[in-house]
Amino acid sequence: MTAREIFIALAYMIAAACFVVGLIWLQTPKRARAGNILSALGMLLAVIATLLAKEIVDYSMIVLGIVIGTAAGAWMARTVPMTGMPQMVGLLNGFGGAASALIAAAEYFHYAAGKGPALDLTIAILLTMLIGAVTFSGSMIAAGKLQGVVNERAVTYPFQQPINLILALTILATGAYLVIDFAHPWVFGYFIVASLVLGVLFTIPIGGADMPVIICLLNSFSGLAAAMAGFVVKNNALIISGSLVGASGIILTQIMCWAMNRSIGNVLFSAFGATVTAGAGGKSAAGKTVKPIQADEAAILLAYAQLVIIVPGYGMAVSQAQHAVRQLADELGKRSVAVKYAIHPVAGRMPGHMNVLLAEANVPYDQLYDMDQINDEFQRADVAIVLGANDVVNPAARYDKSSPIYGMPILNTDHAKNIIVMKRSMNPGFAGIENELFYHDKTRMLFGDAKESLTKLINEVKSV
Ligand code: TAP
Repeated sequence: MTAREIFIALAYMIAAACFVVGLIWLQTPKRARAGNILSALGMLLAVIATLLAKEIVDYSMIVLGIVIGTAAGAWMARTVPMTGMPQMVGLLNGFGGAASALIAAAEYFHYAAGKGPALDLTIAILLTMLIGAVTFSGSMIAAGKLQGVVNERAVTYPFQQPINLILALTILATGAYLVIDFAHPWVFGYFIVASLVLGVLFTIPIGGADMPVIICLLNSFSGLAAAMAGFVVKNNALIISGSLVGASGIILTQIMCWAMNRSIGNVLFSAFGATVTAGAGGKSAAGKTVKPIQADEAAILLAYAQLVIIVPGYGMAVSQAQHAVRQLADELGKRSVAVKYAIHPVAGRMPGHMNVLLAEANVPYDQLYDMDQINDEFQRADVAIVLGANDVVNPAARYDKSSPIYGMPILNTDHAKNIIVMKRSMNPGFAGIENELFYHDKTRMLFGDAKESLTKLINEVKSV
């Protein structure tokens, strides 16, 4: 081994350690930022080591790629709003899949011009192309659905599953053909196109509402494609980082499904979230009406409370109300009111959505409580504020077997002595269903955009 090869091997090993420790640190909010930085440093080291490899004969295209990629990445990081994060992650997964597929294509033509690769390398090239292409086209559709540029609804048509099956079988058959006889660019071309089409057909039957879960799954696929590409170009750093992304993506997908009490199969094959059945005009389907409240009345309830539990949800993200809610908590804190935040694992639209937003507003970590930690405390709470949350506080999940959210663990908001729900209208949330909590005797509705209502509330609390 030359000194350069030893350096590269060592650098990859240190980079791999950084990825693993970084992932462990990501488990707690306190260390998450450090974990992110450590993983990024590991990736920088891996990139530098790769650039020192002797196979690289010309750096000009690499420099051009770095400049364009850095500019695009910096622009996206600065301009994309928090609510647009799921589709941005979707796009990035897609680019990851495309990069792996391009490596597979380059290696295919490299070997097809000669006498063909060994069997293991042939299989690695084909798998990289298949997973990379499916990830790319699937992620583009997923990001398009979330952005509203592709039909958000679950698109279904007759013989959908058999058509997908036939397509998958033809991919398998052409793959087998290429294993036996490699140098057939037209067959390889069909293999690529069919893989891209499979990615589209795999994603269009899934309703826009389930896209965050699919994006997590595609994230896992992009890791698998990268790991496969690592085998193709014999790069250990790529194999390790790709495997870590693949494994953590699939674990996250599973966690999301558990928190919604659904299986991956149910997410993939049911048109969840497509129906909207909530009552209109403030009346429930059973004819019950809601009781509105004004900011001044709500302020009195809050100012004289001992314990207030805030339940943030997707509406807080839409309204960007995290700073305002922190100000309200500070104002209540001055009056010796204890304030706690109850965080549901799938509140919002991506894992850790509420934690990230509240951390951005510098809400102290020790005020954030997971569902299991806080659920028993609701009965002691004088007021529970439901801030743009809906499904995660819907009591129907406990008993209504016909409800699409049946079995999903919920926050026991209905056990609080008073409930103030802050949302703009009686529109349903993600699951598209009515929420009986809003019609509860203890519940008062503070209608309006979350941030605007909070601003009014803060002023009123100050004047109580
Ligand atoms: P949702 O049930 O989606 O409800 C959000 C509510 O926010 C809506 O009812 C909406 O009512 C309100 N809202 C929207 N914009 C608002 C604004 N500017 N100001 C005030 N309120 C606003 O949210 P949730 O309770 O957080 O539940 C999350 C749902 O997403 C769950 O069903 C979960 O399974 C699903 N999901 C989550 C994830 C992850 S990982 N978090 C992934 C996939 C799916 P108005 O329009 O009337 O204001």
